[in-house]
Amino acid sequence: MSEASAQSEQPMVSMKRLNKWYGDFHVLRDIDLEVAKGERIVVCGPSGSGKSTLIRCINHLEEHQQGEITVNGITMTQDIKRIEQIRRNVGMVFQHFNLFPHLTVLENCCLSQVWVQKKPRRDAEKSAMEYLERVRIANQAHKYPGQLSGGQQQRVAIARALCMRPEVMLFDEPTSALDPEMIKEVLDVMIELAQEGMTMLCVTHEMGFARTVADRVIFMDEGQIVEEAPPETLFNDPQSPRTQEFLSQILGH
Ligand SMILES: Nc1ncnc2c1ncn2[C@@H]1O[C@H](COP(=O)(O)OP(=O)(O)OP(=O)(O)O)[C@@H](O)[C@H]1O
Ligand SMILES: [Mg+2]
Repeated sequence: MSEASAQSEQPMVSMKRLNKWYGDFHVLRDIDLEVAKGERIVVCGPSGSGKSTLIRCINHLEEHQQGEITVNGITMTQDIKRIEQIRRNVGMVFQHFNLFPHLTVLENCCLSQVWVQKKPRRDAEKSAMEYLERVRIANQAHKYPGQLSGGQQQRVAIARALCMRPEVMLFDEPTSALDPEMIKEVLDVMIELAQEGMTMLCVTHEMGFARTVADRVIFMDEGQIVEEAPPETLFNDPQSPRTQEFLSQILGH
């Protein structure tokens, strides 16, 4: 195999026999997961099953104790330079937006570009405005987060992550803190991103979103990947009783 084709087949994210504990509590158990470039994964499962911990390990917001994580060819170690290198590849969007309240929308989007990427402010602002345009919120650029709705703040958070030009985007329940009428505007942005070919790992219970964009849905329980399949297969024909029970609860109402 040539080096070029070997590289194109390298997974964007790979986890091999990943184990993590919080003190005595074994939170992730022998996780094996490969995410191909351009692949869209939805992670679901009951509260406390380890979904957030799993995706937070990818950019070392949580530290694992056993196993291996590789992102875009870079294998995680304790070395801070290595961790920073990985973080440059990874964008993250949280449930509670995590915008800086004392900075405007535009400043929120410029901060890391200027301080981490060392971009001149003018270039950072240009790039920020392009991404704010893409999430349809450029007209709010000079407001503070507190002056925006939850849906608008979450779209800013997505734009802020995209400004760093990540190779993979992690979403941790990005719509679960939103009022129902704002969920769609955020999901629409995420669907567009998926259709543009972004590699995405999304913890969400939005099953319509999963059906629309996910290549694979992963069901987790008690720190393990219990089952994974394309959405139609997993939703229509779940194999494990645990998956069946979970789906009957969330699809049942
Ligand atoms: N910093 C921590 N220290 C100790 N235990 C933790 C810590 N963070 C999470 N846990 C525990 O680890 C387990 C998994 O947590 P995690 O947040 O990954 O679950 P989750 O699947 O994302 O749940 P939810 O759907 O409620 O967000 C839970 O039992 C939680 O209480
Ligand atoms: Mg969580």
